[in-house]
Amino acid sequence: MSSGVESQQVLARAREVVSSCTGFRDTAISPTAVDRVVRAELARGRSAMELLAELQRPGTPLARALLDAVLVGETYFFRHPEQFRFLANEAVPAALRRGGLSLRGWSAGCASGEETYSIAACLLNTAPKGVRVEVLGTDLHEGRLEIARRGLYGNWSRREAGPLLHPLYVEVAESRVSILDAVRSVTRFAQGNLLEPLPESYGSFDVIFCRNVLTYFSPDAVQVALGHLARALVPGGHLLLGTVEVDHPPAGLVRVGPPELQAFRRPTPKELTPPPRPVAREPESVKMSVRAATPPPAPPPPAPTAVGLHTEALQRIEGGDEAGAATLLEKLLQQFRDYLPGMLELALLRERAGAREAAFALMHTVRDIAARLPPDQIIEGPEPLPARFYRASADAFLTLGAIE
Ligand SMILES: C[S@@+](CC[C@H](N)C(=O)[O-])C[C@H]1O[C@@H](n2cnc3c(N)ncnc32)[C@H](O)[C@@H]1O
Repeated sequence: MSSGVESQQVLARAREVVSSCTGFRDTAISPTAVDRVVRAELARGRSAMELLAELQRPGTPLARALLDAVLVGETYFFRHPEQFRFLANEAVPAALRRGGLSLRGWSAGCASGEETYSIAACLLNTAPKGVRVEVLGTDLHEGRLEIARRGLYGNWSRREAGPLLHPLYVEVAESRVSILDAVRSVTRFAQGNLLEPLPESYGSFDVIFCRNVLTYFSPDAVQVALGHLARALVPGGHLLLGTVEVDHPPAGLVRVGPPELQAFRRPTPKELTPPPRPVAREPESVKMSVRAATPPPAPPPPAPTAVGLHTEALQRIEGGDEAGAATLLEKLLQQFRDYLPGMLELALLRERAGAREAAFALMHTVRDIAARLPPDQIIEGPEPLPARFYRASADAFLTLGAIE
């Protein structure tokens, strides 16, 4: 039987393994998810020492189970439609002006493939005849890639927030859709870690989408991944990131369009200007005094934010712990009473748990709060969305009885 101290060591080591494999910062790793995996192993009769030894080796079944438990796979078709409009109206014409005979896209951190197929549908629908389309989807989570390869989706992959901008699927059964053959045939999936460069055999891309992935990463890991992404772009190619993932252009890229679009372009060699001249040197006396100064005390850990707590709740849902997620969301709402994304999430969890009255009460509050806001006001959440999205979701729920 393992002692409490040994179990704590296993948990701490497990978090280190997750963080080094994924690039996640420690606060983005769900303690419940890690705890659940470790406890399941201990309950199978394995000792803490055995687990610690396994955690020293890369790629073991235990490491895989930990990754599967903490990786959040939330996604849907044509998520953030403005970026797909940008792809069709700006990025594709720019690629065609470069004169290539193919359009190549990469969906990096594609989860179950909705984003990859949406890119492929958009490229197919906007490319002139004779231009070949190829789209690659990569993710760390092999299970999600299997779902992606099947190309069969339910209603959860189709949301009001992601309108069907281009032909993408056919209905095959009630609430089930299958990706169109034409879209499927230009799409492929492969396992890939954003902390490592994509193998050169995949070539370079006219457009890369990497959205809602870096949001979990440590600052260092963000820089590593951005370096790989920027290097995989053809000169003149575009990178699209999630809404709140960076606040200034990644090294080597320039911003295109408004900040909320999070679109960046790799300049062509012609456009590259010589690097700015170094600024005037500091006087020696200033440098000395800086060196001699004692380092400032470490800042206190940041207070949990509504978005941080909500993200943790999503990880719990992802790990199958819906009750834990609901408890966390309740606490979140006690602290951040008008936080619409958490309220909507909790309402959906209540509905799924059969607590219909509670779900309806929450949805009424969502609708009332959203109705008082300007429809286009962006509400911060794991995914920033306009107030009208919350109003429409609550209306649909209250009218139809449920959102699947
Ligand atoms: C929230 S989903 C985003 C899906 C899609 N990009 C979107 O915006 O709808 C995040 C995905 O990133 C993947 N991921 C996390 N860390 C990764 C890493 N280091 N390398 C590759 N994929 C990673 C997760 O497995 C998960 O499927």
